[in-house]
Amino acid sequence: MSLTEDQSPAISTGDGPLVPPALRANPLRDARDRRLPRVPEPCALVVFGVTGDLARKKLLPAIYDLANRGLLPADFVLLGFARRDWEDEDFESLAKKAAKEHARTNWNEEVWARLADDIKFVPGSFDDDEAFDTLSSTLDELRNSHGIKGNAAFYLSIPPSMFPVVLKQMERTKMADNTASGGWRRVVVEKPFGHDLASAKELNALVDDVFTAEDVFRIDHYLGKETVQNLMALRFANQLFEPVWNSNYVDSVQITMAEDVGIGGRAGFYDVTGAARDVLQNHLLQLLALTAMEEPVEFTAEAIRTEKLKVLRAIRLPADPGAYAIRGQYQQGWLAGERVPAYRDEKDVPADSKTESYAAVRLGIDTRRWAGVPFYLRTGKRLPRRVTEIAVLFKKAPHLPFSHTDTEELGHNQLVIRVQPDEGVTLKFGSKVPGSMMEVRDVAMDFLYGEAFTESSPEAYERLILDVMLGDATLFPRNEEVESSWRVIDPLEEFWAGQEPEPYRAGEWGPKAADDMLARDGRSWRRP
Ligand code: BG6
Repeated sequence: MSLTEDQSPAISTGDGPLVPPALRANPLRDARDRRLPRVPEPCALVVFGVTGDLARKKLLPAIYDLANRGLLPADFVLLGFARRDWEDEDFESLAKKAAKEHARTNWNEEVWARLADDIKFVPGSFDDDEAFDTLSSTLDELRNSHGIKGNAAFYLSIPPSMFPVVLKQMERTKMADNTASGGWRRVVVEKPFGHDLASAKELNALVDDVFTAEDVFRIDHYLGKETVQNLMALRFANQLFEPVWNSNYVDSVQITMAEDVGIGGRAGFYDVTGAARDVLQNHLLQLLALTAMEEPVEFTAEAIRTEKLKVLRAIRLPADPGAYAIRGQYQQGWLAGERVPAYRDEKDVPADSKTESYAAVRLGIDTRRWAGVPFYLRTGKRLPRRVTEIAVLFKKAPHLPFSHTDTEELGHNQLVIRVQPDEGVTLKFGSKVPGSMMEVRDVAMDFLYGEAFTESSPEAYERLILDVMLGDATLFPRNEEVESSWRVIDPLEEFWAGQEPEPYRAGEWGPKAADDMLARDGRSWRRP
């Protein structure tokens, strides 16, 4: 396809009902148009909390990867802000070390040298008015010296308790003001977004006070993963799956996000958060929403968020949470041949902590499409391996016509979207075993990203940081989604409050109570 064709707005997304359905029914069309790399306008990316784990392991490496792929604007500045007595060079060397250690793409000294010229640092603490005045005037100076045109995105890679004070500083200095800056000003907020519905609402109100709604980017990095976006391609670019994607054919859905790691050095955050708030409230409910949503009318932020929100609002909690909402905490055990400590023996975790490192729940979705189909969600730390997947289990064939068939082992047909690792899709179905008997057994057909495509998948943060600079909010949950998700989590937390979590041994697939939960329904968890 020629360049002109690729860029031509053949079907405008704002055409409304006058456009025949056949022309409108291709929500992925915009994605196809985006095959040409999109490069953002000149801008600065201001990172608060540059010395934190997230900045070092994800954000700074992602910025290098974007530079290496030629996706940063020619006029770009990376501006760090932290309570350190540093010069620009000190921050540059921290960023270089982080990028060298964690970047996805090959190291290229020339790329770094170009980026290094555009790395700046402003020292200060969050309650220091003078430091924020300096930050604001630095941005003004960069408009001329680096041609950033007043455009800036502020990345809050800081504890949520610090959000209010930083936002207030941005309001005071007018740094959040599009008009005053003469460009665009955007804010990126990391999860967890609030601690419950009430605090999320408070935070939303505060952010919306300082920034306009379309300039707020709430990060759920799972949405930046290629395989998660592929879920939409799989469902809406194919004819094969959508007709059976409903309660007529689907028996149940299992969404798993398992990690073999423990809590590392994050006890301060994790012990007041727990698995349900850390992962269930955001990553897993977003995966559920994408799995269950209706086809968006177009592939735009507004249309996709609207469909996800409808699902989140239709979630039905278990009537009997004691049986269908399970939380667990790992005990000492073995992983990869090494002895690992119990959760309560991790550094800085109180010896009597009741925080869960595992959570599993059965949810329903009260819509015509999903009535009666259970969605089982689980997440946990110190499970046998790191794996995230969405498994759609289909109903068994209502009748088998073979007279001498050994179908004992025949399970449900399954479509498994492997989010990570081994990114891809597996289809499981029954097949004849070679031989004179009509014996049928489950087999698997695999699609592997690594084999099908030559280009490796970008890291979630590369995609999301790029989208922030482009102003594309498609992969960012909006505040109503966050609030609806808390509406699901709050009653569970209330039910669990004060209860001892169920024990499970590190290196095993969670507590027995979680297996019992599925057994009660005549089902069992997949072993991913
Ligand atoms: C984060 C959670 O959002 O996701 C962490 O706070 C978790 O507890 C992490 O380890 C997992 O991310 P990924 O991309 O490695 O699956």
